[in-house]
Parts: sequence; C-alpha cells; structure tokens
Amino acid sequence: MVFVRSLALLLKFLFLYSLFTFTFTTCFPQIQPKCHQYESHALLQFKEGFVINNLASDDLLGYPKTSSWNSSTDCCSWDGIKCHEHTDHVIHIDLSSSQLYGTMDANSSLFRLVHLRVLDLSDNDFNYSQIPSKIGELSQLKHLNLSLSFFSGEIPPQVSQLSKLLSLDLGFRATDNLLQLKLSSLKSIIQNSTKLETLHLSHVTISSTLPDTLTNLTSLKALSLYNSELYGEFPVGVFHLPNLELLDLRYNPNLNGSLPEFQSSSLTRLALDHTGFSGALPVSIGKLNSLVILSIPECHFFGNIPTSLGNLTQLRGIYLDNNKFRGDPSASLANITQLSMLSVAWNEFTIETISWVGKLSSLTSLDISSVNIGSDIPLSFANLTQLELLGATNSNIKGEIPSWIMNLANLAYLSLRSNFLHGKLELDTFLNLKKLVFLDLSFNKLSLYSGKSSSHRTDSQIRVLQLASCNLVEIPTFIRDMPDLEFLMLSNNNMTLLPNWLWKKASLISLLVSHNSLTGEIPPSICNLKSLVTLDLSINNLSGNIPSCLGNFSQSLENIMLKGNKLSGLIPQTYMIGSSLQMIDFNNNNLNNAFHGDIRCSGNMTCTFPKLHIIDLSHNEFSGSFPSEMIQGWKTMKTTNTSQLQYESYSTLNSAGPIHTTQNMFYTFTMSNKGFARVYEKLQNFYSLIAIDISSNKISGEIPHVIGELKGLVLLNLSNNHLIGSIPSSLGNLSNLEALDLSLNSLSGKIPQQLAEITFLEYLNVSFNNLTGPIPQNNQFSTFKDDSFEGNQGLYGDQLLKKCIDHGGPSTSDVDDDDSESFFELDWTVLLIGYGGGLVAGFALGNTYFPQVFEWCRDYLGVSFTLFLNKIFKRH
Ligand SMILES: *[C@@H]1O[C@H](CO)[C@@H](O)[C@H](O)[C@H]1NC(C)=O
Ligand SMILES: *[C@@H]1O[C@H](CO)[C@@H](O)[C@H](O)[C@H]1NC(C)=O
Ligand SMILES: *[C@@H]1O[C@H](CO)[C@@H](O)[C@H](O)[C@H]1NC(C)=O
Ligand SMILES: *[C@@H]1O[C@H](CO)[C@@H](O)[C@H](O)[C@H]1NC(C)=O
Ligand SMILES: *[C@@H]1O[C@H](CO)[C@@H](O)[C@H](O)[C@H]1NC(C)=O
Ligand SMILES: *[C@@H]1O[C@H](CO)[C@@H](O)[C@H](O)[C@H]1NC(C)=O
Ligand SMILES: *[C@@H]1O[C@H](CO)[C@@H](O)[C@H](O)[C@H]1NC(C)=O
Ligand SMILES: *[C@@H]1O[C@H](CO)[C@@H](O)[C@H](O)[C@H]1NC(C)=O
Ligand SMILES: *[C@@H]1O[C@H](CO)[C@@H](O)[C@H](O)[C@H]1NC(C)=O
Ligand SMILES: *[C@@H]1O[C@H](CO)[C@@H](O)[C@H](O)[C@H]1NC(C)=O
Repeated sequence: MVFVRSLALLLKFLFLYSLFTFTFTTCFPQIQPKCHQYESHALLQFKEGFVINNLASDDLLGYPKTSSWNSSTDCCSWDGIKCHEHTDHVIHIDLSSSQLYGTMDANSSLFRLVHLRVLDLSDNDFNYSQIPSKIGELSQLKHLNLSLSFFSGEIPPQVSQLSKLLSLDLGFRATDNLLQLKLSSLKSIIQNSTKLETLHLSHVTISSTLPDTLTNLTSLKALSLYNSELYGEFPVGVFHLPNLELLDLRYNPNLNGSLPEFQSSSLTRLALDHTGFSGALPVSIGKLNSLVILSIPECHFFGNIPTSLGNLTQLRGIYLDNNKFRGDPSASLANITQLSMLSVAWNEFTIETISWVGKLSSLTSLDISSVNIGSDIPLSFANLTQLELLGATNSNIKGEIPSWIMNLANLAYLSLRSNFLHGKLELDTFLNLKKLVFLDLSFNKLSLYSGKSSSHRTDSQIRVLQLASCNLVEIPTFIRDMPDLEFLMLSNNNMTLLPNWLWKKASLISLLVSHNSLTGEIPPSICNLKSLVTLDLSINNLSGNIPSCLGNFSQSLENIMLKGNKLSGLIPQTYMIGSSLQMIDFNNNNLNNAFHGDIRCSGNMTCTFPKLHIIDLSHNEFSGSFPSEMIQGWKTMKTTNTSQLQYESYSTLNSAGPIHTTQNMFYTFTMSNKGFARVYEKLQNFYSLIAIDISSNKISGEIPHVIGELKGLVLLNLSNNHLIGSIPSSLGNLSNLEALDLSLNSLSGKIPQQLAEITFLEYLNVSFNNLTGPIPQNNQFSTFKDDSFEGNQGLYGDQLLKKCIDHGGPSTSDVDDDDSESFFELDWTVLLIGYGGGLVAGFALGNTYFPQVFEWCRDYLGVSFTLFLNKIFKRH
C-alpha cells in the first residue's frame, strides 16, 4: 500500500500547492502588540488539546508551530498568530501543517477568539471529529480553511452565519469523502456569504443538484467541487460569472451540462474530467483568451474541434481524451506552439498525418493513444526534446522503433504498447534514457534481446517495465541493473527459466510472468522478495511443490496466481497473520490433501484474510471437509453493502490483447471458461470477498451454514465435489449473489425457499444431486431452465416438466466431469476498477492507470513530471 499512500500524499501535496491555495496579503507593522490575557489563555488551552505527531501533516515543510507557544511570551508574537494593530485582538491563526493530532472539542477555547478573521487549520489530523457548530460564532471570519484535516460528518449549517467569508476551503484528498454538506446549508452559505471569492468543496459529499443561486456569487473566482457526488444539470450561468478564473467540477459523473456560448472571460482553468458534460465545443470557445488549461477528458463531448481554439495561443494544457471527438484536430491545435501538455487519446479522430505535432516543441506530455497513425513514428517528433511523457498505445504505429527516440533525453514515461512495431531491438539502448521510469513495449511484433553491454550500469531509474509478448526467450539481463524496479511484466513470452538473481531484487512489488514456458520448481528463494504484492506465474509448466514459505514471507502480498501449472503436493501451510491477501488462484494444478486444515492457520492462532476478495482453488485434488472456522476467518467477506457492488458496464477482454478503456482497469481475473465479464467501480468501498471457486475437487461433508455470512459473495462455485447434506437456507442471505453452482454433488433435501429471494441471481445450477421436493416458483426461479435442476430424481416443478416433454432428462450416470457444457458455463472476468482501491498497488501501473495518475498531477502548478514521479514513488 506504499504506492497508494504515496499517491494520496502526492495528491494532498498538489492540493496544497495548487492554485486553490489562497494567499493572504495583509500587512502588519513591526511594533509588538500586547496580547489579551484571555486570548492567550484560550490559545494555550487549544494547544493542550492536541498532541504533536509528524504523521498528522503531509506537507514535508510543516512543523509544530504550537511547540514554541508558552505563557511567558506575548501571544501576538507566537508562531502562526497575528493580532490587530490597534485592538491587539488575535485576528489571524495559521496552524496549517502543524502536525496537530487529536479530537476537536465541540466547545473548544478557540471559539472565544471572536475577532478572528483568518483561521487556517489545514493539513492536520483532527481524528475524524466533527466541525464544531460554534464555528458560526466567529462572525468576523473572512478566510476559513479546514481542508485536509480529517474532519468528518456533516458540515454544520452554522457555517452559513459567516457572512463576511471571502474564502471557504473544506476540501479533502482524493481517496475518501469524509465531510457532507446538506443542500440546505449550501443554499444558506450562498445566500449569506455573498462575497465569497473562493469556494472549495472538493471531496465533500453534497449529493444533490446545484442551486441556480450559485450564480448570485458574482465575486466568485474559484469554484472547486471535485468529486462531490453532484448530479442533475449544472447551472450554466456559472460560466458567465464575471470574475471566475477556476472552475473544477471533475469526477462528478452524474453532473450534466454543456458548454455555453462564451463571451470573453477571465477563466484560466476549466476542468470537467469525468463528468456528464456533453455536446460539441462551441466556436465561441475561441473567446476564452485567458484560458491556460482546458481539461475535459472522460466526458461525452463529440464533434469536431473548432478551429477557433487555435486562436488561444496562451493555452498550455489541452486534455481531450476519452470523448467522441472526430475529424482532424490539426487545424485547431497545430498553431498553439507553446502548448506543454496535449492529450487527444481515445477519441474518434481521423487524421491525415500526425507529424504537425512535431511543431509543438514545448510539449512535455503527449498522449496520442488510439489515434490511427498508420505509419512510422514521424521524424518530426525528434524535435520534441522536452517530452517527459509519450503515450502512444494502440495507435497503429508501424515500422521500427527509431534510434532518435534515445535522444529524447527527458523521457520518463514511454508507452508504445499494442502497436505493430517490429524489428530486433537491443534493450540495453534504453538505458541511455537516464530519466526513464516507465517503459512499456508490450504487444508489438518486436524481437527484444538483452544486448552485450559489458559495463554494468546501475543508474537506471526504471521502476515499471512491461515487455509482454516481445518474443523474449530469456529474461533481459539489463533488468539486473535496475535497482529501483518495482513492476515487471514479462507475460506472454517464451522464457523457460527465471535466473537466481531475480530473487534478489527486493524492490519488486509486482512480478508477472504468466503465459511462458517456465519449467522446474518455484525456488524457495522467491520468498526473498519481501515487497511483493502480486505474483503471477500462471499458465506455465512449473512442477513440484509450492514453497512452504510462500504464504508468510510478505505482509504485503495481495495476489498469488499459480493457476495452470503442474504443481503438486500441499498448498502452503502457514499464512501470515493479518495477511493482505486479496486473491489466491491455484486453479488447475494437482494440489491435494491440503484444503482440510490448511488454509486454516497452524496452532491456536486465528488466521484471517481480512482483505481477501477472490479465492480460486478449482480443479485440484483437495479433499476433506469444508471447514466452518476457515469461513469465519474470511472476515472481509462479511462486510458489505449492496450498493457497493454496482454493476457498471460490460466489457470483454482478450487476455493477450490491448487493454484500453475509458475507465481505469486494474486487474482482470478469469474464473472459468467462457463469456461473462463484470466491471466494478468505486473499489475504494469495495472491501468484500466476491468470489469463491473450489469446484472440481474432492471436498466432502456438508456445506456449513456460516457461509451465509459472506454477504459480499457474488459468485459461489462448489460444483463437482462430494458434498452431502442439505443446501443451507442461509445461502438466501447472500443478497449479492449472481451465480451459484452446487451441481454434481450429493446434496439432498429440498431447495430452500430462501434461495428464491436472491434478487440478482442470474445463474443457478443444482443439477445432479439428490435433491427432492418442489422447485421454488417465483419470478427469478422461473427464469432458470431445466438444466439448472436436472439429475435430481426427487425434484419436481415447472422448470423440469418442460424438459421432460422435450427429451426425457438424463440420469446421473451420464455425467462426465469434463463435460463443462452442463456444469459451469459462466466465465468470470472480474475487472476491478477504482481509484485508491486495495488492488491498485498490485497492478496499478500496468495499462491505463499510469497516465490517469499523471492526469491528476498534470502540472496545475508546474510540478514537473519527474518531480511527480519522485513524489509518487517516495518510500515511507
Ligand atoms: C518560553 O519560550 C521562551 C522562548 O521560546 C523560552 O525562552 C522560555 O524558556 C519558555 N518558557 C517556558 C516556561 O517554557
Ligand atoms: C482518536 O479517535 C479514536 C476513536 O474515537 C480515539 O480512540 C483516540 O483516542 C483519538 N485520538 C486522539 C489523540 O484523540
Ligand atoms: C463551554 O465552555 C464554557 C467556557 O469554558 C463553559 O462555560 C460551558 O459550560 C461549556 N459548555 C459545554 C457544553 O461544555
Ligand atoms: C446569515 O447571517 C446572519 C448574520 O451572521 C445570521 O444572523 C443568519 O442566521 C444567517 N442566515 C443563515 C441562514 O445562516
Ligand atoms: C439570487 O438568485 C435568485 C434566483 O436566481 C434571485 O431571485 C435573487 O434575487 C438573487 N439574489 C440576489 C441578492 O441577487
Ligand atoms: C482568431 O482571432 C482573430 C483576431 O482576433 C479573428 O479575426 C479570427 O476570426 C479568429 N479565428 C477564429 C477561427 O475564430
Ligand atoms: C496557423 O498559422 C499559419 C501560419 O502562421 C496560418 O497561415 C494559419 O492560418 C494558422 N491556422 C490557424 C487555424 O489559425
Ligand atoms: C526540427 O526543428 C527545426 C527548427 O525548428 C526544423 O528546422 C526542422 O525541420 C525540425 N525537424 C523536423 C524533423 O521536423
Ligand atoms: C518456445 O521455445 C521452444 C524452444 O525453447 C520452441 O520449441 C517453441 O516453439 C517456442 N514457442 C513459441 C510460441 O515460440
Ligand atoms: C438420496 O436420498 C435418499 C433419501 O432422501 C437416500 O435414501 C438415498 O440413498 C440418496 N441417494 C444418494 C445417491 O445419495
């Protein structure tokens, strides 16, 4: 989770240093005022309420300002305090980034300082306290900043009593929304605080439409409502506010709107990423002659890019990706020669040539993914010497990788994934790009080889290396010389062995070597990779035992995929307490005798997998009974909430093909053989186990009742085992269940009526058991066909009658284990998607994610890409 944590830090950092920050410019004279005793006392009392904790502030320049406060000095001279020059009252408190940790008292002494004009407590940790309603008593406040401070709960309506406010900042970081603001409170604020210039409510849940009265705030310069769960129509009048410079509505996917006819305006930054905004760009966009950043990716815009945009030569960043823009954007963009950041990826552009981009010689970031280039990388790109990011995934690029690429000395990110590049290429040459951090050459027709470079250079900064499907027959030796390598993908090659030095690369977080020809045993030295989060060695020819250390060598391990090998023996006996495991996939090996008492912990310890999402042990030789204790240990699976498992969209995916989508896609997991895919969004809320597949083993005994407590389950496949007894009625509690397969067991008794109450159940198979009695006949059950129930001699109901009339029903003796037709037709590809979700770390930097992160950071304040990378990878 190091990565996610640093990402959060980064975002917070950017947040703090972004243009949203308000600067105060009041001047104070040099003479020392004399502090009022009661104010000094109130401040000291406030100080005593908190401990200093350097984790409480993320700003690395922060320090504990209150440490130097003491009663023997004049409070007006204290760090962070300013007093009025005539009245000597405390009017200004700036305790931003002061490492304060503790609960804010609802009756804090702070509220005795009624003369306050500025209160800045941003970037501290108030331990999820509520913002006290007494805040409304500070009626002189002009600037209130409680951002990034771990306040939670409802923002008190009393905030609207602060009628003198010029700036209100209650924003939070990207991963969680802690604060809520009622629409009624927002309306009161708008009605009362009419002088507001800055209103910053990012990551504050508002969950409503925006009131039209927002356009009454005629002084407004900056409005930021990033991820506020807004919906409905955005009040178009806001675009016409005369002083508006910043409008940030990002990540409100249900907020609709379109761009109006613009008059000249002071707008400098317009950010609508991932909203429901739609329509065409108006020609009058050419009147926004102050606009510096135009950021409208992941919306529903379409049509041509108006050429008037080309008049806006002051533009520095244009992000148009993931819309449905058409035509050739060159006429609009080619003349904006000062452009620093350009993304036209994932649209429907049809271009004659892309070589005009070479004229934009100030570009530091260029994403042309999916633009159909149809030729070599144009030579004119050789002039883009400032480039730090070049994304050209799935762009129909042909020819060889030109040697001049190695002259783009600032490149930190290079993705040429999924093109038609060919030729033999010596990998060592990439070491010439000294700033390179991310390299993806996967899925081309390249033949990569190590090169014979004898000098062992260790100055490579590469952290992410993706060389899937690059015709590698052996692991490139230059990998040995990458001291910081964290993500290594070598899937879909033809490597037969992994060298011993690989197990010494302790920096590795993700190692993906599936679909190769690896033979031999998994060496125990793999357990030296203590930072590993994801290990994927599936679909190889590995044999022998799984090293017993595999279960407990790393606290951070989240995903183990070993499916489709020839492994035998036991699965690891011990797992680390408090394990981070989210997925175990041992499908299709020869593992045996291990299920019983095995995933359980040894000794008296209760072994829990608090984060496990997916467990796939199907097609092995597991025997023994299904232990209830183990299920109780799978804690996570119990915590759920139906709305967290929203079905979002449908997508199919070729495992070897390019992965590109308008969404972030972190991981795909195929649980069976054919045709079914799910996309889960909002993974940050998604902490439950969704799938158990232990089909085709030799598990005996009864299905434990306690399985009904795993409320998050979406898929449960226990088919083709030796289970007996009845189907527990508790399965009816699995309200998220979409697929249930209990076929090919020896279950008896009735089908519990409760099963018919599982609303989302789309697939049910209880065939070939010894069930008796009536089949429930409600709506959901009536959609299932005969083959869901056949092979149970005592079962009757309409569903079976249909079948009987047709062709008389088979008998259990016809059943063949390998006849997959009849027992599990679903193919589950679970696409786990989200920001800051638990699975991010494992796969994050793979495909579309990295540019997304880049977009987040994208130089709102000139943070260079390299600085960004340093931030993001900073270890804690
Ligand atoms: C108060 O602070 C001053 C200056 O920082 C210091 O000299 C003095 O010792 C402190 N007094 C107490 C009681 O801590
Ligand atoms: C933070 O909140 C938790 C839970 O309410 C509490 O147990 C803990 O003592 C608080 N910490 C501080 C420093 O106030
Ligand atoms: C709040 O503080 C004041 C002054 O310290 C005190 O008189 C009052 O009783 C307190 N109220 C509550 C609810 O604690
Ligand atoms: C508006 O501000 C005034 C003066 O501070 C206050 O008395 C009144 O309660 C506020 N109205 C609302 C709706 O908060
Ligand atoms: C605020 O807006 C509403 C509706 O848009 C309008 O009726 C009202 O007069 C406005 N108030 C002020 C003070 O401008
Ligand atoms: C660009 O600006 C010039 C002068 O301001 C104007 O005459 C011209 O029509 C504009 N071009 C477009 C395409 O809007
Ligand atoms: C771009 O610049 C060229 C040369 O300065 C000019 O001829 C052309 O009209 C410009 N295109 C647009 C769309 O402004
Ligand atoms: C690179 O830029 C120079 C000067 O701007 C220009 O003369 C040259 O033609 C450009 N090269 C390419 C390949 O476009
Ligand atoms: C992989 O390499 C082996 C020899 O090492 C060769 O027989 C086989 O054809 C290769 N497979 C592919 C897909 O290239
Ligand atoms: C099926 O269940 C009946 C009792 O309901 C039992 O007598 C019979 O042995 C069972 N058959 C199998 C194959 O388990």
